[in-house]
Amino acid sequence: MLAYRHAFHAGNHADVLKHCVLQQILMYMNQKDKPYWVIDTHAGAGMYSLSSEYANTKSEYLNGVARLWDQDDLPPVLADYIQLVQQCNSRGDWSLYPGSPEVIRRSIRADDRLRLFELHPTDYEILEQHFDRDRQVKVFKGDGFASLKALLPPPTRRAVVFMDPPYEIKSDYQKVIQSLEEGFSRFAEGVYVIWYPILSRGDHLKMIESMRALSEKTLNISITVQEPDEKGFGMLGSGLFIINPPWVLKETMQSVMPYLVNQLAQYPQAHYQITD
Ligand SMILES: C[S@@+](CC[C@H](N)C(=O)[O-])C[C@H]1O[C@@H](n2cnc3c(N)ncnc32)[C@H](O)[C@@H]1O
Repeated sequence: MLAYRHAFHAGNHADVLKHCVLQQILMYMNQKDKPYWVIDTHAGAGMYSLSSEYANTKSEYLNGVARLWDQDDLPPVLADYIQLVQQCNSRGDWSLYPGSPEVIRRSIRADDRLRLFELHPTDYEILEQHFDRDRQVKVFKGDGFASLKALLPPPTRRAVVFMDPPYEIKSDYQKVIQSLEEGFSRFAEGVYVIWYPILSRGDHLKMIESMRALSEKTLNISITVQEPDEKGFGMLGSGLFIINPPWVLKETMQSVMPYLVNQLAQYPQAHYQITD
């Protein structure tokens, strides 16, 4: 069953964290004069309208990207990210929000390659059309968890794998581990970026423990922005677990997270964590 549509959530606080970190990782990859691949195992639709009915059902972007786009004191990392979002809005408004495939596409160089997986039939169609005739990009209608291993190692022997499942089905947590283990055993040099939600029941904690067991070179960046709702549910925040992170990423994100928490906080105890 594929009930999840990212169009309802585009530009929310989780997207802000995941897309600005992803952009920084790719900027770092670009410093070396050797091509690389990016594999986005759960790509979504690629581009979202913030004026659509979907986006305005809960208007999550208002507590996300919209809290940044009018700021004139953005630290450099967030200025890079907001500039990328702005470049997607050629009419000068803020009506479009780029999903991870578009963030990646705008960050890679001419010799780099992008491989995208999406299972939802409608989002796959939108994504496919969005990158129609783009020779750097290939879009697959398939299971990103299961398909990852077949692309590793990539011909260039440099790659970033971005894994951003919906986690609406509990088995996603286990599938992340299995897919990562398979990928990592074939290509231990890759940079693996795993997004996870922070829910009050703490489902992510066991998954993080298993991911940590895979490698000594890891970085975990998380942000908690809100309290659980009256029933004890809701996404309180989110995080990114990175294997083989660029060595500067920890310091870079340490310099920006206090500002980001301040902007995205929905309650006084909002906080962030960065751990190896
Ligand atoms: C959180 S959204 C992705 C958002 C996107 N990465 C971004 O940052 O803009 C998760 C996507 O994964 C898709 N999906 C769910 N299970 C999948 C699977 N096993 N393989 C590939 N895509 C899947 C969903 O249809 C949904 O579009």
